[in-house]
Amino acid sequence: MLTRRLFVASGAAAFVAAPAIVRAQAKWRAQPFSLGVASGDPSPDGFVIWTRLAPVPLDAHGGMPIESMPAAWEIASDEGFRSIVARGSTVARPELAHSIHVEVAGLKPDRRYFYRFEAGGERSPHGRARTLPLTMSRPQRLRFGVAGCQDYQSGYFTAYRHLAAEDLEFVYHYGDYIYEYGPDNPAVRQHTGDLLMSLGDYRRRYAQYKSDSDLQAAHAAHPFFMTFDDHEVRNNWAGDFDDDDHVTQKVFRRRRQAAFQAWYEHMPVRRRQFPVGSAIQLYRGARFGNLARLDFLDTRQFRTNQPCSDGYKTACAEVYSPRAHIVSADEEAWLIRNLRRNDTHWNVIAQQVMMMSLDCRKDAAPGKILNLDSWAGYEVQRKRVLARMRGLNNVVVLTGDEHTNYAGLLHDRDQPVAAEFVGTSISSDGDGDDMPSFGAGYLANNPQLKFINNQRGYLTCDVTPDEWRTNFMVLDRVSTPGGQLSKRATFAMARGEPALRLV
Ligand SMILES: [Fe+2]
Repeated sequence: MLTRRLFVASGAAAFVAAPAIVRAQAKWRAQPFSLGVASGDPSPDGFVIWTRLAPVPLDAHGGMPIESMPAAWEIASDEGFRSIVARGSTVARPELAHSIHVEVAGLKPDRRYFYRFEAGGERSPHGRARTLPLTMSRPQRLRFGVAGCQDYQSGYFTAYRHLAAEDLEFVYHYGDYIYEYGPDNPAVRQHTGDLLMSLGDYRRRYAQYKSDSDLQAAHAAHPFFMTFDDHEVRNNWAGDFDDDDHVTQKVFRRRRQAAFQAWYEHMPVRRRQFPVGSAIQLYRGARFGNLARLDFLDTRQFRTNQPCSDGYKTACAEVYSPRAHIVSADEEAWLIRNLRRNDTHWNVIAQQVMMMSLDCRKDAAPGKILNLDSWAGYEVQRKRVLARMRGLNNVVVLTGDEHTNYAGLLHDRDQPVAAEFVGTSISSDGDGDDMPSFGAGYLANNPQLKFINNQRGYLTCDVTPDEWRTNFMVLDRVSTPGGQLSKRATFAMARGEPALRLV
């Protein structure tokens, strides 16, 4: 277990340096690993390790000079770093905000490892990562976390402190890692800077969020599979469209390019996710032996603009347009191929926005109200994907975006074909209540929906060859530090039968 000690061990006092290194230490105005360390995208033989040199996180360039800085990294099989199994050197470049991404390979499968960095005589706190089991192995259990939606202004990241203490193989992040807005008033904690526009703006916002010690603890404790949703760029953007700012697609792509660059710089992702112009290869997969295949989707970058001018509305004709899509044709074909292969006990679709088409009526409105920013606004593709799940009886969809916990069933025509678990938020929308004001109406209007809760927190998933369990972990508050965690509910699905059982 990582201890708190690691996160207060900053500053030169905690570092015992060799004489040659002491001279280099004079470079630092403050310790450069102020944004912590992270690991991500584990495979059976390695993972990415990440950090960023930023002695003064909110200053331009994190307080770094505009020059490259050499850095070293180490991987150990023990927390005391007595047994180093890999090491190397790299360069932190100003072009990439002095971020460091190392793709470590050649490690043993299904093992825990520890990693740390060194630059200019300073040593980083260490992080813990874990390789995946071999593709052809037969693991009997998997436990992982699901989190996202972390509006800094809405509350503390206490959920991450608890997530760090969980025993997990990895964490899937469904996006909204930052929010792009300027300062709210009042706010639990205020954003520095205005509405994000330039690369420097986005970098500074990541630096503010990543200065949070709870968030750092979660990254140091577990490897993450990172995706993004809308707020990493702009509220409800869709492909090349940003309707909130009424700009042309050409203009929006400039901003998206800045946002994507900053996202890459701050995420423990592989070289394959290096942005090319205003594009990123976000969707990708992972396999946990023969127990689970995970497909991480990109439901933002390729979608057609939201139908009916977006919002919560009754459907207009665009909702049923065969040209409307939320994932690209290539991405859909890739997903369908993976589902058709079906060579794992479970097929997991880890994505961002709700796949159930909920009736979101809050009162006695005459017709069904849809969330047009979700899959419900793209009904032809939604139906097509659901039809491909029929007969598999092992599909679980993991979702974020809603800032509310939901458990429900996905249907192909009138047959249930998959379970969908929607994770709440780390902090977005503040403390919340067990049952939201709209909860009773939603449950009454949506028989496929089995559970609603509107507190903050995260999910943990316990997976065995025969049963899937999702635990809804919630906090009593995020408006002040020290929120208490409890397990609000556990829902189970047996493999072979798309049905939900309250445990
Ligand atoms: Fe969100």
